[in-house]
Amino acid sequence: MPPYRNSTPMFVDSHCHLSFPDFAGRLPELRAAMQAAGVSRALTICTTMEEFEQVHALATGHDNLWCSVGVHPDNEGVREPSLQDLLDGAALPRVVAIGETGLDYYRLNGRSVADMAWQRERFRVHIRAAKITGLPLVIHTRSASDDTIDILREEGAGAVRGVFHCFTETQAVADAALEMGFYISFSGILTFRNAEALRDVARKVPLDRCLIETDSPYLAPMPFRGKTNQPAYVAHVAAELARLKGMDIAAVGAATTRNFEALFGLQTETAT
Ligand code: NI
Repeated sequence: MPPYRNSTPMFVDSHCHLSFPDFAGRLPELRAAMQAAGVSRALTICTTMEEFEQVHALATGHDNLWCSVGVHPDNEGVREPSLQDLLDGAALPRVVAIGETGLDYYRLNGRSVADMAWQRERFRVHIRAAKITGLPLVIHTRSASDDTIDILREEGAGAVRGVFHCFTETQAVADAALEMGFYISFSGILTFRNAEALRDVARKVPLDRCLIETDSPYLAPMPFRGKTNQPAYVAHVAAELARLKGMDIAAVGAATTRNFEALFGLQTETAT
């Protein structure tokens, strides 16, 4: 059941991974569920150059899907993207973002932060691609917010836009991101019982800088926690954000949709 009674609200899932094996063969079903839940569009995110062709085919094959090009900071043993790789991907139709990229020091596996220089260099390459193309960055940061913001400031110097996706950081990090002109995207984590600190952040982030996402197949919102997530469930993230802001869910859907269009350069009439 969608978390609202009227059929009017419209939502956008600003971050999902429709190319992941969890979704193999399920796209018609997922898109039907999106339509039933009022989720008009989704941005499917690239995490390796190896998967880019498949991600891009999803976006070119469906009029309500778009994609990014980039390599996730956690991915090791994959092809390292050159600046030219990212520029080539970014030049293709339906590619509207660079990422997901950023820094993740959560799983150091016995290494020091100094050992993660390769991750910082990969991040810098993505920022350069965003500067050259003018496309927004989709930022993943975990246990690395200081370095993430420092490198963005150093490389980007006000010349890049983007979104901190699946936000789980502090108010100070949110403030730094907002100050750089970035958007903050909230996921199903917002509905988790132990996420009170994050809910406090969400209450304070201005609605005109909020996006919503599923990060599916991961992080299903309540009441689906622990199950495979899907883009249709972004309506539940919208419902929680509306509750926190004391607003109507339709207003949150409309605002986050406008923000998505503004950040990724998409027009309203492309919705189907
Ligand atoms: Ni992701």
